[in-house]
Amino acid sequence: TQEIFDSAQAYEPDSSDIFVVTYPKCGTTWMLNILYLIEHGGNMIGSDDNLNYHYPFLELVGGDKVQEFKAPRVIKTHLDDRMIKHKEGVKYIFVARNPKDCVVSFFHHTLDFHNFYKYKGGKFDDYFKIFMQGKVDWGDYFVMVPRWYEKSLKEKNVHFVLYEDMKIDPKSEIEKLANFLGPKWSDSIKREGVLENVIKNSSFNSMKSNHLNQIIKLQQKTKTSSFRLQCITIAPKDLKFMRKGAAGDWRNTLSEEQSQEIDEKMKKVGK
Ligand code: A3P
Repeated sequence: TQEIFDSAQAYEPDSSDIFVVTYPKCGTTWMLNILYLIEHGGNMIGSDDNLNYHYPFLELVGGDKVQEFKAPRVIKTHLDDRMIKHKEGVKYIFVARNPKDCVVSFFHHTLDFHNFYKYKGGKFDDYFKIFMQGKVDWGDYFVMVPRWYEKSLKEKNVHFVLYEDMKIDPKSEIEKLANFLGPKWSDSIKREGVLENVIKNSSFNSMKSNHLNQIIKLQQKTKTSSFRLQCITIAPKDLKFMRKGAAGDWRNTLSEEQSQEIDEKMKKVGK
């Protein structure tokens, strides 16, 4: 609602906050799960629990609700850097993903959240057009991602991570991440067996085969608060969240022209 969105934009960060910022479908849940695992000695979140209850989604629940979480907080958002208030000390993890895989994933997400988007039967070619125009939820990939990338070049409190790098070498990406976040995090992965379990329990297959995939069932099972309701309103019961989890799979969906259109756009925004 407008009220929740306004409250999200008005959120006054605490200097200990960690924001996980992504354009949708670029690895948000993956990153949040990694943080959860590091914080919990590599142990997978319980089947009666949910990442949303630990790491609130700023523009879904609003800033007032986020304030109720005890600092230090980890906060999920897809907002452009101009839409959130900044504060000295706050850390931002930005996860980016190849826009070609992002648009395919976002298309499936839009089909899958059928009770919300009502896009059942929608065609990829149509969706691609609106994605390229930035007329999808959270706006233009080609504005949001470059802005955060620029910021990461200038500001040491922004850690820019690529989905593709996490796939190739999760160990070194998790180590870099923990070092960026500070001693609480880097010490955790130095404890015996923790790093190995973080890697194992954050792999796609592991996340797909456990309850993290059934995000909604889980949300319905737990807590009967208004917070729970805010979390479940937009997702259908049959949603399976982990789809393919691949890098480069766009080749099975995008045409040569669509791929070139993205290449051209990336060249332009890269200048
Ligand atoms: P696909 O639809 O391409 O499979 P977000 O959490 O930002 O919505 O991103 C969702 C995308 O990240 C989905 O992509 C999902 O499958 C993928 N994903 C989630 N966990 C992952 C993991 N451990 N490894 C690789 N991809 C993962």
